[in-house]
Amino acid sequence: MPEMEILITQQQLADRVAELGRQITADYKGGQLLMVGILKGSVPFMADLMRAVQLDLRIDFMSVSSYGNATSTSGVVRILKDLDSDIRGKDVLIVEDIVDTGLTLAYLKEYLQARNPASIRIASMLDKPSRRKADLRPDYVGFTVEDRFIVGYGLDAAQRYRNLPYISWIKE
Ligand code: IMP
Ligand code: MG
Repeated sequence: MPEMEILITQQQLADRVAELGRQITADYKGGQLLMVGILKGSVPFMADLMRAVQLDLRIDFMSVSSYGNATSTSGVVRILKDLDSDIRGKDVLIVEDIVDTGLTLAYLKEYLQARNPASIRIASMLDKPSRRKADLRPDYVGFTVEDRFIVGYGLDAAQRYRNLPYISWIKE
């Protein structure tokens, strides 16, 4: 393992997810919530967040890939797996690991908006606003982070470290 330093502990993640869950529960009362996890990075956050929301909700997943290299995004998105369900009239909440340039989610939001959901919002565990290129602000954010490459709780470096139960940054 490379040298790492923990930025956000397992307990901090759990506490924040519980808060977000309460907020989402209140905001979507009476709605038709469909939580859409973006594979693969959202998996731990999605699993924790959906159990923190006390509503009759549904879940679905999408898998997207951006053309570009491993650490930077080009803004052109390829849909590898689309939704199974129809979102017309539904309250869609996209669940992501991190918003970096925002290009991926800006594209995805527009792509899903065309299907006429009742509403569409974004919940991201992490937000890196210093790197933003698209005009996009997530509606629910766990933590705002500096411009460092981080891993864990779903985030990977070349597909590794997604299973770390905390968030850390790689020192070298
Ligand atoms: P963007 O917002 O379109 O630039 O893309 C965000 C995606 O880039 C995320 O879903 C992650 O997969 C990846 N990403 C951005 N920053 C990091 C990081 O610090 N560590 C690991 N993956 C990252
Ligand atoms: Mg991702």
